[in-house]
Amino acid sequence: ANINALFVKKSKKYFGNIGDQGTLSNSQTTAIINSDFGQLTPENSMKWGSIEPENNTFSWAGADYLANYAKTNGKVLRCHNLVWHNQLPAYVSAITDPEIMTATIQSHIAAVAGRYAGQCYAWDVLNEVFGEDGKLEASPFYNTLGESFVKIAFDAAKKADPYAKLYINDFNLDSATYPKTTGLAAKVKEWVAAGIPIDGIGSQTHLNAGQGAGVEAALKLLAGSVSEVAITELDIAGAASTDYVDVVNACLAVENCVGITEWGVDDSQSWRSSSSPTLFSGFKPKAAYNAIVSLLQ
Ligand code: XIL
Repeated sequence: ANINALFVKKSKKYFGNIGDQGTLSNSQTTAIINSDFGQLTPENSMKWGSIEPENNTFSWAGADYLANYAKTNGKVLRCHNLVWHNQLPAYVSAITDPEIMTATIQSHIAAVAGRYAGQCYAWDVLNEVFGEDGKLEASPFYNTLGESFVKIAFDAAKKADPYAKLYINDFNLDSATYPKTTGLAAKVKEWVAAGIPIDGIGSQTHLNAGQGAGVEAALKLLAGSVSEVAITELDIAGAASTDYVDVVNACLAVENCVGITEWGVDDSQSWRSSSSPTLFSGFKPKAAYNAIVSLLQ
């Protein structure tokens, strides 16, 4: 089976996964990517700390590798991410002056989004900027600029790559009644109304068993604030089939859910490896994979 082809055929939505030079140098990984997944997100290579580890010194090799791999193999490229408080170099976290922070965000985005302009279906412009209470959380960006960093980042991304869909991406958006989900949905609606160029909300969807049931209502709520939504980093502890089926059904039920990205090909490569959250173990499909295939067939 090819779950991307089945998903595209049923609903025109992509089913993707992550990659970078390390995992893509493993032929068991590339065999699965090439047979089952139609979209790629760089797991780490486009993050600030990887791509601009020192101010104005760029390290493009890893990100170029992934972007070229996507192009050569006909995969949709989702670019991840431009502004995040993790995997952030110390020279950025040390900035306390708002004007210097503004210029630093703008030049980072101009360089990185500019380099891949026209190649990224979407960019995660902001990653994990909300707290569990549904408000913007303390970070080097928020601490220096307050809420204004949101507009600064999206405006810079729009200027650098007018073709990419611009996303705000976050985790724990898996229930429609959770304060983080409701708070983020309300804020994004307000920002869109104020003219900030936000096209999409990405729901990372790192789940534990049993959480799949809330995803459809949550996605519908998020979809009310923007023109599209996506499931951007799916993995589920224990890879419970019912939860995987719930998540795929949730994206099918929301017209403007454009696709699903799984965060890891094989359990052995997952950042949550100990919870066995992916669709493959020992590079063999698990029950959850077969459940998705029967759902989409
Ligand atoms: C993770 C990667 O999978 C790991 O390899 C890395 O060590 C840490 O970051 N939210 C995100 C992703 O937006 O970028 C993170 O990826 C997982 C949580």
